[in-house]
Amino acid sequence: MQDELREYRVTAEPYYQPVADEVELYEAAYAARMPMMLKGPTGCGKTRFVEHMAWKLGKPLVTVACNEDMTASDLLGRYLLDAEGTRWQDGPLTMAARLGAICYLDEIVEARQDTTVVIHPLTDNRRVLPLEKKGEMVKAHPDFQVVISYNPGYQSLMKDLKQSTKQRFGALDFDYPDHATETRIVAHEGGVGEDVADKLVSVAERARNLKGHGLDEGISTRMLVYAATLIGKNVAPLAACRMALVRPITDDPDMRDALDSAVTTFF
Ligand SMILES: Nc1ncnc2c1ncn2[C@@H]1O[C@H](COP(=O)(O)OP(=O)(O)O)[C@@H](O)[C@H]1O
Ligand SMILES: [Mg+2]
Repeated sequence: MQDELREYRVTAEPYYQPVADEVELYEAAYAARMPMMLKGPTGCGKTRFVEHMAWKLGKPLVTVACNEDMTASDLLGRYLLDAEGTRWQDGPLTMAARLGAICYLDEIVEARQDTTVVIHPLTDNRRVLPLEKKGEMVKAHPDFQVVISYNPGYQSLMKDLKQSTKQRFGALDFDYPDHATETRIVAHEGGVGEDVADKLVSVAERARNLKGHGLDEGISTRMLVYAATLIGKNVAPLAACRMALVRPITDDPDMRDALDSAVTTFF
């Protein structure tokens, strides 16, 4: 039989540095097939974590980047017209449910609420997915699990998950790792020495303290990896930090200067 999930199998181990007991907790949640919500700021390791866990559990991973134009049909599937007539094509959620993958809905709050509700019957005891257009009730494969990620910082009244959605999930809090762990991650991912990584993390910690005082979001681990990568390619550290850490997060000249001077403190 053709392996329809071949391209979704995670064959090489995605590097993941655990921060607390999230690996064990997720394993227990998966064993119970509990739907999981990964909460935390952007760029702190949520996506990498789920990739790592899919690899560790030996399950295929179907990732959907949610956006506000996404419709229920984009998740469920639709009839397509081809030379032989119409044929049904499963959407990513349906495929994952049928074949037993972990379905990761990234940045779920970006999707409209009328789209999000299609996951409800899959996330309670029923574990079914009604395809009304096709007149089929898909029973989820025993290995299937739904995982969603969500950044609580972005939530507004218009853009939040309904309580009826939230209460279907177990949740794990993610945040930027502690100094030593983040240093190790940045050195590994950016291909720089721990000395450089340590300074980058110190710059980020300064900026994170300014969150809510003129900055909406701190410098993420992802941004530190970018800066490290540039430094690893022989870009001067000051230029690398300005380009990868400071300019992307602020348009305000005073804030920019404050962050630039934090960079010169450490480099
Ligand atoms: N705990 C971690 N272990 C390994 N890499 C990490 C970790 N946290 C963050 N990273 C690095 O930061 C980058 C961004 O993380 P990502 O998982 O994409 O963030 P999120 O999904 O939370 O926005 C990753 O590509 C990886 O290089
Ligand atoms: Mg992500």
